[in-house]
Amino acid sequence: MKILHTKQEMRAAVAAWKEAGESIGLVPTMGFLHEGHASLIRASVRDNDHTVVSVFVNPMQFSPGEDLARYPRDMAHDTAVCEREGADVIFHPAPEEMYGQPFYTYTDMNVIPDGLCGASRPAMFRGVCTVCSKLFHLASPDRAYFGKKDAQQLAVIRRMVQDLDFNLTVVGCESVREPDGLAMSSRNTYLSSEERSKAPAIYRALCHVKQLVENGEKESAVLRQGFEEEISRTEGLAVEYCAVVNAGDMQETSAVQGDGSCLMAVALRLGKTRLIDNIEL
Ligand code: PAF
Repeated sequence: MKILHTKQEMRAAVAAWKEAGESIGLVPTMGFLHEGHASLIRASVRDNDHTVVSVFVNPMQFSPGEDLARYPRDMAHDTAVCEREGADVIFHPAPEEMYGQPFYTYTDMNVIPDGLCGASRPAMFRGVCTVCSKLFHLASPDRAYFGKKDAQQLAVIRRMVQDLDFNLTVVGCESVREPDGLAMSSRNTYLSSEERSKAPAIYRALCHVKQLVENGEKESAVLRQGFEEEISRTEGLAVEYCAVVNAGDMQETSAVQGDGSCLMAVALRLGKTRLIDNIEL
């Protein structure tokens, strides 16, 4: 497995594979890889001749005051995970390599990024779209792999690929959870042990909502109330948003169909940490 630091090296590796008619899977990450990322790499290795894992903490998707400086990093661990899972290349550019100065051009989107995480993290989706556009150009993947835990990000990327005619398939992979239900996230490392013991309440509350739907409840207002009541049993969890949305465009809906086309998407604060999760309804 190679670790490439420059765009030129990345392009050269891809050119050789394309020349040989071989397929490429891309797993975009910000590093500090956990079992969720490992499952994306495994899916890519299964589906493609070559797998590129990008490890790049993208400054453009952090607003001032967010956790860019303290975002966890561990390149030795990330290298071991990629090696173990059978990736061919880690693309690990420096920020100056990705964003030459001056840098004037962005990929932006309306509607899907406006609410939910986009409401409290204004830089996020413009940064995600811009970096993923660049990664898609550099790695020329046939398939790109994203986790369903970041449901709004997945909807944004699917729409961007469709609207801008990127010639690749976006593959959404199931969220991977700790045994107690907490969705895996690099940011879980910020939780103190007391906070960590409270965090599984989020998935328990989402499962409660799913149960309400399975019992015949369809009204979003009732489902939101059900979630908030469950969460209120755990001290210290503050709901930032709790929305019932259509999975395709992440727009709020007043009722679910009960066919899996809707999600309950949530963000909560636990101490200084912001956690997101969702469940198909
Ligand atoms: O989900 C992430 O880790 C990031 O938002 C992504 C897709 C790698 C873009 O920086």
